[in-house]
Amino acid sequence: MTRSLTGMTVLITGASSGIGAALAEVLAQQGARLALVARRRDKLEALVARLSGSGHLVIPADVADPRACAGAIAQACSAFGRLDTLVCNAGYGLVAGIAATDEEQWLAILRTNLLGTTACIRAAAPLLLVQPLRDGWRGQVMIVSSALARRGRPDAGAYSATKAAQLSVAEALRIEWAEQRIAVTSVHPIHTDTEFHGAAAGRRWLVGAAEPRQTPAHVAARMVAAIRRPQAEVWPHRGSRWALALGALWAWPIDRYLTRRLAEERAAVLSPEAAKSKG
Ligand SMILES: NC(=O)c1ccc[n+]([C@@H]2O[C@H](COP(=O)([O-])OP(=O)(O)OC[C@H]3O[C@@H](n4cnc5c(N)ncnc54)[C@H](OP(=O)(O)O)[C@@H]3O)[C@@H](O)[C@H]2O)c1
Repeated sequence: MTRSLTGMTVLITGASSGIGAALAEVLAQQGARLALVARRRDKLEALVARLSGSGHLVIPADVADPRACAGAIAQACSAFGRLDTLVCNAGYGLVAGIAATDEEQWLAILRTNLLGTTACIRAAAPLLLVQPLRDGWRGQVMIVSSALARRGRPDAGAYSATKAAQLSVAEALRIEWAEQRIAVTSVHPIHTDTEFHGAAAGRRWLVGAAEPRQTPAHVAARMVAAIRRPQAEVWPHRGSRWALALGALWAWPIDRYLTRRLAEERAAVLSPEAAKSKG
């Protein structure tokens, strides 16, 4: 059964830019009521000012703090009375080799990307599990992971690990809550043109000229389709799904590709001008 977006209540973490903001724009156009969560209040307020519809909530919160997650979910649930879709999208990248990633960096990225996700799910559970069905579903949890969930990226191993952990959470939860008619969907974008690469911690996140990329609007459109008709996984770039599935069976071609790319990235760090002229 297709879920109607008109009047649907959706909470989006990481809504102040990129994929979260693009998703908010499409959902608002379709008549959804939104609770928008991120740390930058000014960005959320500017977003709400340009959204269609009214009654959207701005909830400044840091998802690395579980009490802030609980507060954000409670505020949305009490204003809307139900939560149809919880989108756990807030996250950031970290560019550093595994041996160079210190304990503090590991804990920080796990707190935001992984525990920020699970804290929101835990806080939403009491309402999600008892609210009445709407269009055949009690609710939905959508987790924005990454294509890197299926293959760790060199020099972004800690970030990749948080994305793989989010996928494991989605896989387990999907079965745990199936009987209650709560859909669980993981989303696996490839490189998307957002603030993400500029905001990443550690070294600069380099993007190869030949690397496929997509727009946040494209990712948001695929997410909206999976909110209307819940599905287990969303891969906005279909080719990457099949390449990574084959890579799980047959590792060496992907090892070879990533080895070459890492060498190019490291050369670009040492000599940015030479890398630019190579294109
Ligand atoms: N862009 C890509 O290439 C790509 C690829 C695969 C997966 N993803 C995933 O897509 C998701 C969205 O990223 P994006 O590409 O849209 O990047 P983005 O433009 O940098 O957006 C990240 C969002 O997360 C929020 N955020 C970060 N840390 C937070 C915290 N501690 N508490 C609350 N909000 C926080 C940011 O808002 P504030 O700074 O205002 O808090 C921002 O709204 C992330 O989970 C990312 O891992 C991105």
